[in-house]
Amino acid sequence: MIQSIRGTKDLLPDKAYQWHFLESKFKEISALFAYEELRSPIFEKTEVFSRGIGEGTDIVNKEMYTFTDRGGDSLTLRPEGTAGLVRAVLQNNLLQQGGITRLWYFGPYFRYERPQKGRLRQFHQYGAECISSPYPESDAEIIILADTLFKSLGIKNYKLLLNTLGSKDSRSRYKAELVKFLSSQSEKLSEDSKYRLSVNPLRVLDSKDERDKEVITAAPNILDFLDDESHLHFNEVKAFLSAENIDFEINPRLVRGLDYYNHTVFEFQSDALGSQDSFGGGGRYDNLFEELGGKPAQAVGFALGCERLLLIMEHLNALPEKEKLADVYIVSADARFSSNAFSIAGQLRKLGLKVTSDLLHRSMKAQFKEANKINADFVIIIGEDEAAKNAVTIKNMKNGEQKEVATESLDLNHFAL
Ligand code: HAM
Repeated sequence: MIQSIRGTKDLLPDKAYQWHFLESKFKEISALFAYEELRSPIFEKTEVFSRGIGEGTDIVNKEMYTFTDRGGDSLTLRPEGTAGLVRAVLQNNLLQQGGITRLWYFGPYFRYERPQKGRLRQFHQYGAECISSPYPESDAEIIILADTLFKSLGIKNYKLLLNTLGSKDSRSRYKAELVKFLSSQSEKLSEDSKYRLSVNPLRVLDSKDERDKEVITAAPNILDFLDDESHLHFNEVKAFLSAENIDFEINPRLVRGLDYYNHTVFEFQSDALGSQDSFGGGGRYDNLFEELGGKPAQAVGFALGCERLLLIMEHLNALPEKEKLADVYIVSADARFSSNAFSIAGQLRKLGLKVTSDLLHRSMKAQFKEANKINADFVIIIGEDEAAKNAVTIKNMKNGEQKEVATESLDLNHFAL
C-alpha cells in the first residue's frame, strides 16, 4: 500500500477536534489584541525565502523543499511564515500610512529535517506580526500576546528566553570579535561549526554539539557590545514584561536560526518536549522589508509550532474533551421509514441539534448499539405505530425514559437533559 511521506501526519477524526480547539483559541486571542488574519500561498518564489531568511542559514541551505515548475521558475514550499507575509504585505500595500499593521496567520509549513518527536517535515504554525513600530512596546505586545495565548491553553510553566542582537552596528562589531575568537579556537570546533564560522558565525553559538558548547562558554558576550540605543531598547522591553509579571531568562547565546533578526529575540521552551524543547520563538526584524524590495518598515513577530503545543497540552492534561458526535440518533424499525427519518433529522437540525441515523438498513438492535457507541443523549424511534400516527418515540439514553411526541410538535424542550 502507498504510504504517506516521512515526517507528515494524517489528521484523523480522533484528533481533529484538538486542532479545532487550537484554531478557535488562535482566532479568539488574535481578536483580543485586534490582529487580523492574513493567508498567503503555501509556495512562493524561492528568493522570498533565500533573501528573507538568509543564504547562510540551515533552513535555506539544507531544509527547503525547492523545485523547478513546468515554466522553469524556482519555487519553494514555505518553511516559515514571516518572509511570505512580508512579500504579501508589500505587494498588497497593506502598510498603513503612519499606522500599525497587526496580522496573524496559521497553516502548514515545510522543512526537510530529520523527523523525530515534535519535529516533522510538514508542521503547522500560528504566528503574529506587528508591523511599523520601532518602539519596544511592540516587542512587548507580541510577547504578551504569546503569553496570553499559552495561558489560555493551560500552559503556565514554560520558560521564556530573551536576548538582543542589538542594532546593525553593534551586531557587526560583535560578529567581528566573535569570528576572531572562534577562528582562534577553530580546531576544537565540530565540522558543522567550522562551516558555520565561514557562512554564519552567530549560529555557532546555539550549536548543540558538546565540543562547541565548551568553546562557546568562553566566547565574547553580545551584551558587552551593545550601543546605547540597543541597551535602551532591550531594557524597556524587559521593563514592560516585568510590569506584566512575565518571567524571562536572559540568554546571551540565543541567536535563532533565521538571519532577519535584530534587537530583541526570544524563544519559548518547555520541559515537556524532550530535545525539541522550543515551541515558539520570534523577534524584531527591521530590515526584512527592504531586503525583499520594499520601503523600510520596522516589525516584530513570533510563531509557535502547533504540534509541539499539543504535545505540551497532552503532557499537562490540558486538552479538552472530545465533543459528542451527535445529540440524537434516529432508529428506524424498517427501511420503509427512511424518508420519515430524513425529514425528522432535518427538522431537528434546524433546531440546532446534532443528528445522525443508520444508512445501512440494519436491525433495531444494531442501531441502538451504534447509538450507545457514539454516546447519543437521545434516540428517536420510528416504528410501525409511530409512522401511522405521524409521531415518534423519544428515548432519553441517560435515564431510559420514553415518551411519544407528535412529529409536528417536536421542540428543544424534548431534548433537554
Ligand atoms: P522558528 O523558530 O523557525 O521561527 O519556528 C517557530 C516554531 O515552529 C518553532 O519554535 C517550533 O515550535 C516550530 N517548528 C519549526 N520547525 C519545526 C518542525 N520541523 N517540526 C515541528 N515544529 C517546528 C519562525 O519560523 C519565525 N518565522 C518566527 C517569527 C515570526 N519571527 C518573527 N516573526
